Amino acid sequence: MSRSAHPAGPRHADVLTEGHYSAPAADLNVLDEKVWSRTVTRDADGALTVGGIGVARLAEEFGTPAYFLDESDFRARCRAWSEAFGPDADVFYAGKAFLSRAVVRWLQEEGLHLDVCSGGELTTALDAGMPAERIAFHGNNKTVAEIERAVEAGVGRIVLDSFQEIVRVAHIARSRGVRQRVQIRVTVGVEAHTHEFIATAHEDQKFGIALADGQAAEAVRRALGLDSLELIGIHSHIGSQIFDMAGFEVSARRVVQLLAEVRDEHGVELPEIDLGGGLGIAYTSDDDPREPHEIAKALSDIVTRECESAGLRTPRISVEPGRAIVGPTAFTLYEVGTIKPLEGLRTYVSVDGGMSDNIRTALYDAEYSVALVSRTSDAEPMLVRVVGKHCESGDIVVKDAFLPADLAPGDLIAVPATGAYCRSMASNYNHALRPPVVAVRDGEARVIVRRETEEDLLRLDVG
Ligand code: LLP
Repeated sequence: MSRSAHPAGPRHADVLTEGHYSAPAADLNVLDEKVWSRTVTRDADGALTVGGIGVARLAEEFGTPAYFLDESDFRARCRAWSEAFGPDADVFYAGKAFLSRAVVRWLQEEGLHLDVCSGGELTTALDAGMPAERIAFHGNNKTVAEIERAVEAGVGRIVLDSFQEIVRVAHIARSRGVRQRVQIRVTVGVEAHTHEFIATAHEDQKFGIALADGQAAEAVRRALGLDSLELIGIHSHIGSQIFDMAGFEVSARRVVQLLAEVRDEHGVELPEIDLGGGLGIAYTSDDDPREPHEIAKALSDIVTRECESAGLRTPRISVEPGRAIVGPTAFTLYEVGTIKPLEGLRTYVSVDGGMSDNIRTALYDAEYSVALVSRTSDAEPMLVRVVGKHCESGDIVVKDAFLPADLAPGDLIAVPATGAYCRSMASNYNHALRPPVVAVRDGEARVIVRRETEEDLLRLDVG
């Protein structure tokens, strides 16, 4: 996911004559609003505030590392997505990005639907009162127990991912006397990356049923032949952190083509298509994400156009943004510990978390920004690598960034845009205690997922 190569480089900005680093921002004290959640600002003393609360108070009350989630920003993004798509479409928040019971309640209040992909996510959703009919259940290997639970709960749709699953879900639904609404997830032969998409002749991945070679058409045939399934549409998800709409357009075109084939063969017009999630967000100032209304317009234009030319009624569209809703709404707050300058190389800044609270840098080469947030500084920019406290040299939080050269142990630094896939992919590596998620709104902060404790660790270890 890296947008540029970052070879090991020198320590100070003034000797950066070569290499691929973005130049340091003219003023490191300025917070680029592209990467920070909407209520983030600096107070008169230069400390970062979110939802009107300063980081010093947040650190004191909740400790570090911790994720601080800007609730009003989260809600505003939910509204922006649902308003952009309008009443003839459905927005399913992808819970895998980050799910908690508070989040489920916000989604309900803001009128969104929810995509879950495991029994655990389903339980969280139902426990927090999400109406089952607003839940879509995903996964390439849903267990029989999970399917039973989803069918019994009455989820609005199960997204079928394989031929075996068509039979499994049909069987379970029949045994409960239910007609289960389902979609079929197809792989459309578009592999999407951050900057480009590659049309592939063959699908080589575990998700979905290939459109190519007639597999998806066969899956539709089988699903339509089973009384206990109500096939409501086709689903496609092409990838993650995508900025270019071209991949979605190819995907939409191919899905509509399948709908036309289904109409021709069975005389049935499937009423829905789901185009998945995957819309990119700004992790650094170099990223330029699309706004929900642009995305909605691009998708609905292409679907409408393709349906018109195929003589189909325009189906109801749904989308499943996860990252694009929650990603920008949170930052991770760390306390600076050891600072190790390596002459001629770089300065390593160690924080009190690391790959256990953000695995994305190590796993995907993801890029992040970082800022000194407990104060401002007029010191020179210093090229740093922000690393964690784990016993692993790949334990990198931010690979290359500039922080003020007077950075000192005890300073607070924050990494923005960590709302998606950080807490949800957090681990206990080295018996780290997973950080809390604290929702901040209108001058109030409240823990929505508490910090793990050593007692939690010992409780799981039954001796
Ligand atoms: N719908 C389906 C069927 C998906 O598989 C996913 C993500 C989404 C929606 C939501 O995608 P989003 O809008 O959040 O990009 N751990 C990786 C991302 C994995 C995404 C898996 N599926 C990361 O940290 O970048």
